[in-house]
Amino acid sequence: MIAIVDLICKSLTGGDYKGKMVAKVKTLGIVFDDEQRSGYCSGELVSGQVLVELSEDMRVTALRLVARGCARVNWSEGPGTATAPSSAAMATSSPSSSSSSSRSFREEVEYVHSAQTLKEAPGDNSEENFITLHAGKHEFPFSFQLPQGPLVTSFSGKYGCIQYWVNATLERPSAPDQSVSREFPVISHMDVNTPTLLSPVSTNKEKMVGCWFFTSGPIALSARIERKGYCNGEAIPIYAEIENCSSRLIVPKAAIYQTVTCLANGRTKTCRQRVANVRGNHIGSGSMDTWNGKKLKIPPVTASILNCSIITVEYSLAVYAHIPGAKKLKLELPLVIGTIPYNGFGSRTASVSSQFSMDMSWLSLALPEQPEAPPNYADVVSEEEFERHTPSCSQPEDLESELGRPVFAYIQEFRFQPPPLYSEIDPHPTLTEEEQPRVAFVI
Ligand SMILES: *[C@@H]1O[C@H](CO)[C@@H](O)[C@H](O)[C@H]1NC(C)=O
Ligand SMILES: *[C@@H]1O[C@H](CO)[C@@H](O)[C@H](O)[C@H]1NC(C)=O
Ligand SMILES: *[C@@H]1O[C@H](CO)[C@@H](O)[C@H](O)[C@H]1NC(C)=O
Ligand SMILES: *[C@@H]1O[C@H](CO)[C@@H](O)[C@H](O)[C@H]1NC(C)=O
Repeated sequence: MIAIVDLICKSLTGGDYKGKMVAKVKTLGIVFDDEQRSGYCSGELVSGQVLVELSEDMRVTALRLVARGCARVNWSEGPGTATAPSSAAMATSSPSSSSSSSRSFREEVEYVHSAQTLKEAPGDNSEENFITLHAGKHEFPFSFQLPQGPLVTSFSGKYGCIQYWVNATLERPSAPDQSVSREFPVISHMDVNTPTLLSPVSTNKEKMVGCWFFTSGPIALSARIERKGYCNGEAIPIYAEIENCSSRLIVPKAAIYQTVTCLANGRTKTCRQRVANVRGNHIGSGSMDTWNGKKLKIPPVTASILNCSIITVEYSLAVYAHIPGAKKLKLELPLVIGTIPYNGFGSRTASVSSQFSMDMSWLSLALPEQPEAPPNYADVVSEEEFERHTPSCSQPEDLESELGRPVFAYIQEFRFQPPPLYSEIDPHPTLTEEEQPRVAFVI
């Protein structure tokens, strides 16, 4: 614990103030009583201590604590946006022009704001009123209750974040205030055991590939998952059928996508990235591949955030067929990542696969889509290739404002690990039991 405090306080120095030598605060830090907590829920008590260490006696006017929590969105658009706007006032919620060509979009929604005084000199707040804190270590316990009302899970993204933090400020006569702040994680639980999230999701699609007159036949894809809601760490069993009646060798794959949508001043900014994927066998001539519960593991990602008015985090499961020389055929199933796992009382699980086979009858009924023209170069560049050249959103975001302290970085580091970057190397190699080499272009 002490190591953390040292880290927090490293930047604190006393010294000169308006020409006067003022005493130094050796340490100013915040520790929570439960440092291991993965998240506080609405209505819960957050408690801890403000630690003050002084190398000499010091006059203090007050020690105040503020707890805050808010969702904030911030991005810029326009030609000048490569360089970030230098002055940024958090309070603004209307678009402001940092230059004639670039516009900033900002919005903030507050969920928590409570202030308390941990120590205060009696009387008014004038320079003559102070208490003396002696040299050495002092601990000031604090606690506050999170609002009963709905809170939104902590989240940190490229264009927006949802953060909760406490800020302790030491006020002294004839010296600048000194403050420290620390974030604490909040979880808004989402139970996947609700009728909507327990219901299965399925969809299907087919497409023609080939040259105009030499259309070889459709590629048909159908996919289904047993339920809409899953939790971190669970593996989603995917039921799918992929039929190749075309002249090309196709490779079926599945991936989980995370879509973060930020809203400010009537505009939205969306960031989409793949957080997990799995690959099937290549499917040759006239054959069909069936996934009878092929598993795709959910990596440690933020649970879905669906009810914050300015930031949403949504997930989907894409099942797609990579077709050499053509655009991939892709299905997308909505997915909700919750925090309270399935309790097993659904009882439909057993019948899912048989039920699913019956659903496949649509395959023969569905009208094929218009035949697709021969591929052009852009189509041949695979979407993976394309995605690799598209800016990724998985960097820990820059939205720092008053929070940008080492303390903060420290917490972020283990609490909010960004989802893994996409790579051709499967991050969960145990799941790809039938890994095949990349397939050549065949017409
Ligand atoms: C908004 O984002 C820019 C860069 O993206 C950053 O420089 C600026 O400080 C941010 N403003 C606020 C208020 O967070
Ligand atoms: C959001 O939804 C979750 C789960 O349904 C709920 O617990 C939480 O209170 C909601 N928050 C808001 C801001 O509506
Ligand atoms: C804490 O709050 C004070 C007063 O609002 C502010 O000036 C200061 O920058 C904050 N400190 C930190 C470390 O966020
Ligand atoms: C499916 O792909 C293979 C590539 O190995 C191709 O040769 C075959 O003709 C395709 N299937 C059908 C029914 O055409």
